[in-house]
Amino acid sequence: MAYRVPFVDPREHYRKLKSEIDAAILGCLATGDLIYRQQLRDFEAHLAAFVGVKYAVGLNSGYHALHFSLVAAGVGPGDEVITVGHTFLATVSAIVHTGARPILVDVAEDYNMDPGAFEGAITPRTRAVIPVHLNGRPCDMGRIMAIAEPRGLIVVEDAAQALGATFQGRRAGGFGHTGCFSFYPFKILGGFGDGGAVTTNDPDIARTVSLLRYNGEDRETGEYHHHGYTALLDNVQAAVLDVKLPHLPHWIEHRRRIGARYRAGLEGVPALRLPHFTETDRTDVFQNYVVRTGCRDRLREHLRARGVETLVHWPIPLWHHKDLGLDDPRLVETESICREVLSLPMSAETTDEHVDITVACIREFFRSRGSADG
Ligand SMILES: Cc1ncc(COP(=O)(O)O)c(C=O)c1O
Repeated sequence: MAYRVPFVDPREHYRKLKSEIDAAILGCLATGDLIYRQQLRDFEAHLAAFVGVKYAVGLNSGYHALHFSLVAAGVGPGDEVITVGHTFLATVSAIVHTGARPILVDVAEDYNMDPGAFEGAITPRTRAVIPVHLNGRPCDMGRIMAIAEPRGLIVVEDAAQALGATFQGRRAGGFGHTGCFSFYPFKILGGFGDGGAVTTNDPDIARTVSLLRYNGEDRETGEYHHHGYTALLDNVQAAVLDVKLPHLPHWIEHRRRIGARYRAGLEGVPALRLPHFTETDRTDVFQNYVVRTGCRDRLREHLRARGVETLVHWPIPLWHHKDLGLDDPRLVETESICREVLSLPMSAETTDEHVDITVACIREFFRSRGSADG
C-alpha cells in the first residue's frame, strides 16, 4: 500500500541529490572505474577524517566489517566474544563465523550495552567485546573502554547505525580497535546496495582488512597473504557515498530536529516511553526513533490503518530462532523490548507534516483506549 507517511522515502532522497549522484555514477561508468579505483580511496580518506581516525577500509557490508575486525584480531575457536542480545543478527553471526562463542548480555533502558552486564560476563576465555551503538545512540564508551582495556580485550564497535554520533565529543567508531559501519540503503549514510567499512587507527588492522576483502591479495605486489574473501566496496558505491558524505551533518541535524518534534508532540502520553535519556555527554543521530509501549502491536495496526508506516526492530529475540542454535541467555530487558518497541518514520526525508500526522494518530490511539495498557 502507498503510505501517507512512509518509514523512509528512497525516491525522494534520490530526487533531491539527482544531479550529484548521476554525475558520480556516470563518471565511473564512462571511465571504467569499477573496482578499487580513486573514488574508493577518496571515500575512505573522507570517511576516516569524518570519524576521526587514521584509516577507513571500504567493504561490501557491515557484516564483513564486523567479521574482518574479529579475524584481524585473531579471534577464533575457543574464544568468547561478548555482545548484546538486542542487536541485528549480523553482529552475532560475525562472531559465530570465526568459530568463537557469542556471549549475549542485556541492554540498559537506552537499548545499549549495560556495562555492568558486560563486566559480569567476562571469563578467562573472553577475547573481545562488541558494543552496539543502537538506533544511532552511542554506548557509554568511557565505562566500556575502562573495563576492556586493563584486561587486554579487543573492542570492536558495531557502529552500523551510528555514523556521526558522539560520546564526549568523539565520534562512534573511533574508540575501539575498530569501528564497523554499514551503508545499507536505509542507513544514515546509505548507498544503492550493500556496503560497509572498518575504521581504525591501527595500520596492521587496516592492512589485514584490506587484504581480506580482496581474496588476500596485495594489489601492489600481487602476493597472496590470506585465504580471504570477495568483499570489496564497489567503486560506484564508493563514488555515490563520497558525494553523499558532505550532506551527512545536515541530515543528522534534520534527524535530531525530527526527534525533538516527536518528543514535543508525544511527551506526556502516559503509556509511551520515548527515546530521550538524561546523559548530556552524547549525541544521538536517530538512525531509528524508537518508542516503547505495552500495546505495541495494536498501536502499529492503528498507525498502519491510517497510512503511517512503522517497523519493529526486532520482534523476536535471536535465541528464539531455533535454527540459529543460540543458548537462551535469559535477558529479561531484551525479551520485553522485543515485545514493546516500535520504530516511527525517520529519515532525511521525514517532514514536519509526517511527524504531526504520526503524533496525532498516536495520541488518538491512546485517547481512545484511555491509556489502559500502561
Ligand atoms: C546493528 C547492526 N549491525 C550490523 C549490521 C550489518 O550491516 P550490513 O547489513 O551492512 O551487513 C546492521 C545492518 O543492518 C546493523 O543494524
